Amino acid sequence: MTNPVIECLANHRSIRKFRPDRIEPEKLDLILHAAIRAATAGNLQPYALVVVDDPARLEELELRSAPAALFALVDQFRLKRWFELSGAPFYNDQAVNFLVSYWDATIALQNAVVAAESLGLGSVYLGTVLSQNVQETLGAPEYVFPAGLVLLGYPDETPPLRPRLPLEAVVHRNRYRVPTDDEVRAFYREEDGRYEALPEETKAKLREKGVTNRAQQRTIGHYTEAFIRGESEAILAGLRRAGFRLGG
Ligand SMILES: Cc1cc2nc3c(=O)[nH]c(=O)nc-3n(C[C@H](O)[C@H](O)[C@H](O)COP(=O)(O)O)c2cc1C
Repeated sequence: MTNPVIECLANHRSIRKFRPDRIEPEKLDLILHAAIRAATAGNLQPYALVVVDDPARLEELELRSAPAALFALVDQFRLKRWFELSGAPFYNDQAVNFLVSYWDATIALQNAVVAAESLGLGSVYLGTVLSQNVQETLGAPEYVFPAGLVLLGYPDETPPLRPRLPLEAVVHRNRYRVPTDDEVRAFYREEDGRYEALPEETKAKLREKGVTNRAQQRTIGHYTEAFIRGESEAILAGLRRAGFRLGG
């Protein structure tokens, strides 16, 4: 049993090569309307979407590879101003407000991605947006923080569907069941096989970095400790700059 929505979701693949064609304004409009129809905590929509489709701005933001980019931002600033203008107190600078805004922003962004894919467009998320200074790059005020970024455009490639873990690795029924070590090994058997399948010369180069299996390839070979620490420090600095009080 299937339907067009399920088919669209099942066919998702990140697109990293885009045709230069602009996205038609009517399509972009449909995508943005679909995004803001997403569920939103308290129906307060504590997020903002920034569409960048001016080629000069895309260049400035080093997002050259696509004709459009969509930022999703935690946005408690707009609410703050509304509260202030209405004589209502503002204490939305706290963990729950931040997390709910973050949740809202990413739900809206994924709605945009699904809408875009249903219209024949492709997309890719860019994780490094989290450490970006959106006060500087986007002119955002206090209480605004990056939640997500996608590039959008017409695909200029048809990559294969990328693999996923087996359903039982991710889905728990009625409660979280801690997997045994054997189960964890089984969940990652295919993933581990991707290291084994690498050409011998690639493996030789990786071994020079101390990488002898797939998990090490994903950690010391790619998401290094220095990268993770650097991104995390920038994110924490961004949270402080925006004015959020998340403890500590
Ligand atoms: C939160 C998040 C951050 C991501 N960041 C990047 C990124 O910075 N660069 C990139 O090329 N892909 C990025 N991706 C795309 C993933 O690499 C991609 O979804 C994953 O490899 C699975 O491939 P698929 O989307 O084609 O199924 C990101 C995806 C998510 C959800």
